[in-house]
Amino acid sequence: MKVYLQTWGCQMNAADSLRMEALLIHHKYTLVDAPDNADIMLLNTCHIREKAYHRVVSRIGELIPFKEKNNAIIGIAGCVAQAESKKLSEESFDIDLIFGPDHIEELPTLLEDALKKKSLVKQVQWDKDPSYHIPIDVIPPLPETGKTPWSPFINIIKGCNNFCTFCVVPYTRGREKSRSVEEILGEVQYYINRGSKEITLLGQNVNSYGQDKSDDFSSFVELLYQISKFPELKRLRFTTSNPHDFTQSLAQAFHDIPILCDHFHLPVQSGSDHVLGRMKRQYTQDTYLQKVSWLKEFRPNMAFSTDIIVGFPGETDADFQETLSLMEKMEYSFVFAFKYSPRKGTPATRFKDTVDEKVQTQRLYDLFTLQNLISCKKAESEVNQIFDVYFLYAKYGYIYGRTSQSRLVKISDQGLNPSELLGKILPVKIIDIHGAEPRQTSLNAISLLGILI
Ligand code: 5AD
Ligand code: SF4
Repeated sequence: MKVYLQTWGCQMNAADSLRMEALLIHHKYTLVDAPDNADIMLLNTCHIREKAYHRVVSRIGELIPFKEKNNAIIGIAGCVAQAESKKLSEESFDIDLIFGPDHIEELPTLLEDALKKKSLVKQVQWDKDPSYHIPIDVIPPLPETGKTPWSPFINIIKGCNNFCTFCVVPYTRGREKSRSVEEILGEVQYYINRGSKEITLLGQNVNSYGQDKSDDFSSFVELLYQISKFPELKRLRFTTSNPHDFTQSLAQAFHDIPILCDHFHLPVQSGSDHVLGRMKRQYTQDTYLQKVSWLKEFRPNMAFSTDIIVGFPGETDADFQETLSLMEKMEYSFVFAFKYSPRKGTPATRFKDTVDEKVQTQRLYDLFTLQNLISCKKAESEVNQIFDVYFLYAKYGYIYGRTSQSRLVKISDQGLNPSELLGKILPVKIIDIHGAEPRQTSLNAISLLGILI
């Protein structure tokens, strides 16, 4: 049976899709890149921002001809499935399967039921198990895929208890649940056995790791120390952190653990204390900057990136200027920025002082204009410097890798055998900047051109 899987959204969703792929391969399904000949079409959806529901329904519309032609089934997974299962089942009669993020491991059974086509199969209750468990047989990639996971993601915690007023995550992913240290260390070992030298720990709020468990459970910082003991592991990353939960002991870990990379993604959302208060972020611009200074003390070369929301209800021009001023102080390497989009059921939808869409658009434009200057200045300062680059993939005549600061670096593959470089960490001298054009929501298009030295 052929399965087409389309994924939207964050790294958590991408990691969920990889687990689904691993499960599918394990159960003898074949993955295909297009829906044309698929027997099963799965959409792993994201609900974080605007028009998420609409986008899913319109994609279902595009898939219906293939469903009819191939007598195929359509399944909806991810956060839209979790949050809108009722509406989806009432309004779209072409869906055969709806399941939430807590039910990924049941995918083979759910598919078997859905393929019988008696009625809609729906599985969206919260998982009742107080612990978060991912069995090792759904860890991607399985040997059959033949791929080496140079830089895999490892889920350590799911859900969020912070309830920022704009955010739908606590409603689509539930409350925080941490995986056991043993299971996580087992997964680290699994990847090391397959040649991985870098891992990224994943969670909506990794800093809360272990707080949902009893006293003898490791904290996030203790987990970092434990993982750092694997001698084969050369780079350790994590995402995402809420600045509110950032502690001095985490900064200390950057002093003690050399394999922790020089990149910190610390979503600020706004530079205005007034807006931060209404977002219920539980920090101010000053306390944010103070935490950053703890880190910079140990890691002067730390690169920072962030998420920013513009046009949150009540955001004045002066508030927005505070955000721009914070960006100037921080000199982020890259920024993901979005117009505020009201999410059903979240507290911020009750704020009446919404910001006009045109003003939001202008602010987003101004924000990127500033960030573009900052990003280019930072990238220019990296030309002629030498960085250790971990090579990850080869494409279109180049071999790509990342610096510890997460900057994408490419070298020409002329005269080189890419397969010999992949998985290696080698010094590269930067000679030029490529692709420094602003994008709609981020400026991550910047990459550096280098040569091996
Ligand atoms: N509107 C706009 N952006 C949002 N984000 C989360 N919820 C919303 C929303 N309602 C952004 C935040 C978060 C990132 C993952 O998505 O910046 O950090
Ligand atoms: Fe959403 Fe806030 Fe939790 Fe991040 S910390 S997932 S923004 S509620």
